[in-house]
Amino acid sequence: MKTILICITGSVAAASLPSYIMSIRRELDVRVIVMLSKNATKFVTPYSLKLYSGNEVYTDTYDSMPNGLVPHMQCTQDADIILVIPATANIIAKAAWGICDDLISTSIIAATSPVLFVPSTNERMWFSKPVQMNIQKIQDHGYFFVEPERGVSISTSSESFGAMASLKTIIPLLKKFLTDETKPV
Ligand SMILES: Cc1cc2nc3c(=O)[nH]c(=O)nc-3n(C[C@H](O)[C@H](O)[C@H](O)COP(=O)(O)O)c2cc1C
Repeated sequence: MKTILICITGSVAAASLPSYIMSIRRELDVRVIVMLSKNATKFVTPYSLKLYSGNEVYTDTYDSMPNGLVPHMQCTQDADIILVIPATANIIAKAAWGICDDLISTSIIAATSPVLFVPSTNERMWFSKPVQMNIQKIQDHGYFFVEPERGVSISTSSESFGAMASLKTIIPLLKKFLTDETKPV
């Protein structure tokens, strides 16, 4: 069975991750391991993610695993793909510049498998110069990303660009990553 490491950061879209995880497990028959940033815990709880993933959830660089290893080494080694979803402007910036100041940013640097970012920001953040520059930079480092979509932003209560890609986009993409030798994006 293939393993997907799902890294959730602090966008309001994190609240959708339990249902995303349920669909990913059901449709791809994969093992899911979850990491959660401290800020993401404002939007979704480790407990619900543990129920939906069927595995321990890690939030801290200094958590230890049952075998005594640290999650940024063991989980990344176990992963066939690392999915950063929703990916905040903050984690995209950290990955662009190699910053490792929490569990998820440290795991991205320690990755041995493809890393796929699924950004979610409001429209103003998405089109800002720093975010656009960092999106280019993460691709230069060999990471992959999925374009955001149009959706209703709770920050403005209106439809705009920057919403997290839907499962309709993500599931076929993950399927390709898990089956093809060539990278699909
Ligand atoms: C209600 C609310 C919604 C937010 N949604 C987003 C978002 O969609 N995308 C984003 O990049 N930041 C968003 N933020 C800001 C992030 O939570 C903030 O930049 C945080 O430092 C991200 O930390 P992390 O990347 O470690 O999870 C939101 C903040 C609030 C209060």
